[in-house]
This record gives sequence, C-alpha cells and structure tokens, in this order.
Amino acid sequence: MPLLCIASPKGGVGKTTLTANLADALRRQGRRVLAIDLDPQNALRLHFGVPLAEREGFLARAAGGLHWRDAIRPTASGVALLPYGTVGMADALAMAAALEHRPELLTAPLRDMLADPALLVLADLPPGPSRSLELLAPLAAMVLVVLLTDASGAALVPEIDSGRFLGLGALYGPDPDRLRLVLNQVDHRSRLSCRVAEAMARHLGPRLLGALAREDAVAEALAAQRPLLEAAPASRAALDLRELATAVSAVLPVPAEPLVAGWTR
Ligand SMILES: Nc1ncnc2c1ncn2[C@@H]1O[C@H](COP(=O)(O)OP(=O)(O)O)[C@@H](O)[C@H]1O
Ligand SMILES: [Mg+2]
Repeated sequence: MPLLCIASPKGGVGKTTLTANLADALRRQGRRVLAIDLDPQNALRLHFGVPLAEREGFLARAAGGLHWRDAIRPTASGVALLPYGTVGMADALAMAAALEHRPELLTAPLRDMLADPALLVLADLPPGPSRSLELLAPLAAMVLVVLLTDASGAALVPEIDSGRFLGLGALYGPDPDRLRLVLNQVDHRSRLSCRVAEAMARHLGPRLLGALAREDAVAEALAAQRPLLEAAPASRAALDLRELATAVSAVLPVPAEPLVAGWTR
C-alpha cells in the first residue's frame, strides 16, 4: 500500500542510489517491494544488474498503452523493478507534456499498485520540482528528501523549513509528518562534513530519518551493478542503510491485513 517518493531539490545527491539500495534493504527485511523509475535518465535499473542494452521501461511507453504489470522486470534482489525505459530528449519532453494533460497516465497505475496493501512502492523522482512529484506527492505516505552533507545541503534547509522547496508547501502544510529527510555522503574523515551532519541533525530533529556515509563501496556497488548490501555488506554505508530501512519500516509498517499473494494477473 504505502508509496515512498525519493526526491530532492538538487540532482546528483544520491536519490537513485538510495531508492535502489533502500528497496533492496527493505526487501531483505521481508517487505514486498516495487521500485519505479520516474526519471528519464533511466538509471535506477543499473543498480539492479539490468544490462545497458535493455531499453524496455514503463513510463516511456505508458502513453502508448503499456500496462505497468507487463513492464515489471524481476531482479536478482527480489525487488520488482519498473524502469523508465530508454528515451531521447524529445520523448522525455513529450512524456512530461503528456502528463500535463493526462495525469492519469501516472496516477491510475499508481493507484492500482497501491491497492495491494502489502506492497511497498518506492519511486525515484527526477531532481527538483517535477510533474511526477506533483502528481505522486498527494498519494505518498512519505516523501523522503535527500540532501548532501555539505554547504549545498545545509543551504537548502531554510527552503525545507519554509515548505516552499519543490513547490510542496501547500501539500505538506497540513501534514508535515509525511516529509522526512536523509543525509547522504556523510564523510566521517571530514571535519566539515561531520559538523554539517551534527548541525543538520540538531535542526531537523525527528524529521531526519537517517544518514548514509560517503564510501567508495557505494559507487563500487553501482559499478558492479549490485546492491550495496550484497557487494559490501560489512561497510559503514551498509550499516547506515540497514538502519535507514528499519526507520522507514517503523514509519511505514506492514499492514495487519492478510497478504495478497503476488502482483501478477
Ligand atoms: N554515499 C555515497 N558514497 C559514495 N558515493 C555515492 C554515495 N551516494 C551516491 N554516490 C554517488 O554519487 C553519484 C550520484 O548519485 P545518484 O544516486 O545518481 O544521484 P541522483 O539520483 O540524486 O542524481 C553516483 O555516482 C553515486 O555512485
Ligand atoms: Mg537519479
């Protein structure tokens, strides 16, 4: 049932890395997980070992009538994956324009996915404000905002406090509990990074759900196209990731209802 959107005002902060590895970590903790890529960069699949040459995806072909269930790609991790699909710039812009006039291209499949009470859906959003986030935020049980643990991340905190970042102020005003943050790339050898992490943790309080260390193991796992918990299970970042998954599960527990078996028709 729950939808978790992973977003950020900034690009290159680790949204895709976190979506993939959090999906894998939650799967390992026993959740049934579907990870959906809403960024035309189509990079989420790379973390799951999908070959570069594989071009199939969901959102790229949603306007052509592709059903989301038919686009599901099983992965070795056990996470069900909906890649965006490989697109050129014109197709990506056409999809964004289509969502302006036909929001149901995205909201109808999402509602369908969320009808399964035991399924946890993680959505990897494009950077900054996007039509996808505008459409999905009202359906989301949690919007997890990724910030870098440096001056660029700290500089975004006033925007988050004001509720105007990502244009989500109106949505999150009445229900700020749905907005959580995660710090990425905490460099434990850097005095600046540690001080920024401490200051942001103090300021954000319970809104901060967790933090992930900056480590070569994270980028190396992507290079190996494997989840971090498989490629480097003893790394500091892996430990952080497990804690983050536990924190997510505490906020979004498995519903008490009987499980619905499978998601295939
Ligand atoms: N905790 C981390 N430690 C080291 N490298 C990281 C970490 N998180 C992300 N990266 C690297 O940073 C880059 C950007 O990450 P990515 O997930 O693609 O960001 P986004 O989706 O926000 O654009 C990638 O090369 C990724 O491997
Ligand atoms: Mg990304």
